[in-house]
Amino acid sequence: MTAVSMHAPLTVADIEKHLATRRFGRRLELFEELDSTNTTARELAVAGADEGTTIITESQRRGRGRLGRSWASPAHRNLYLSLVLRPSCSPAVLPQLTLVLGLAAAEAVREWTADVKIKWPNDLLIAGRKLAGILTESVADDAGVQFVIPGIGVNLNSEPDDFPPDVRSLATSLRMVTGHVVDRPGFAGRLLNHCEARYDEWQRDGFHALAPAWETYSCLTGRAIVVQSQERGHRERIAGTAMGLADDGTLRVRAANGAEHHIVAGDVSVVDGYDRSLT
Ligand code: BTN
Repeated sequence: MTAVSMHAPLTVADIEKHLATRRFGRRLELFEELDSTNTTARELAVAGADEGTTIITESQRRGRGRLGRSWASPAHRNLYLSLVLRPSCSPAVLPQLTLVLGLAAAEAVREWTADVKIKWPNDLLIAGRKLAGILTESVADDAGVQFVIPGIGVNLNSEPDDFPPDVRSLATSLRMVTGHVVDRPGFAGRLLNHCEARYDEWQRDGFHALAPAWETYSCLTGRAIVVQSQERGHRERIAGTAMGLADDGTLRVRAANGAEHHIVAGDVSVVDGYDRSLT
């Protein structure tokens, strides 16, 4: 058996060996350093890149997360990937795409460890710590969705010192969890395979077909939560019990007065802590 080297650079050929896709990763552009894979993918999309075009970089100068946060992107440790997608759907259902790709990412992680959970809408957690996140950016107009750029960051081989001090106690990597160096080309290929399979299913059958699989990974259902929602441009705070996903991918939250809210987009905190009980 060949030992997996943590610092070996990625190559297109090594990733392609693991691909079982028709479109995703078939045009694959690999960089040593970028500001953000989402920025580069967006430029390619504007220039007309086909669906499935994939950008991967070894490091990001300005890796970004949701809600204006940054995404730590040390070189040669992890996976930083963005796709160009051109779904046939209305802009209103685009939040589902983050869930679809979160499910795909959880299925890829599951090939390395069974413990992975999804915290709606876009966090992959192991033992309550963040392993991966998805940032979905899109351009839509009156004619519909022009393109979508989902960016996926997965902490594969980071060690505790690779994380900025403010997130060190909240983050983890597959290596920290399994004790083994993760084969990065293998992970990238497997991730793209799951992403294409789940994306095609979503386009063909709709989100309701994927909702039961997504629910098996959820770490929120039944828990007391507070959601800062961002519906129609204004922020709202909703406290209640997470009741699981509706068929359209919105998060059902039952408030103390019995009212049920369906949240399209927002940031969730678990009332009794962001801790190991989330696993
Ligand atoms: C989040 O959890 O807030 C989302 C994190 C998304 C990080 C990835 S890394 C690849 C892509 N490029 C970026 O700048 N961000 C995403």
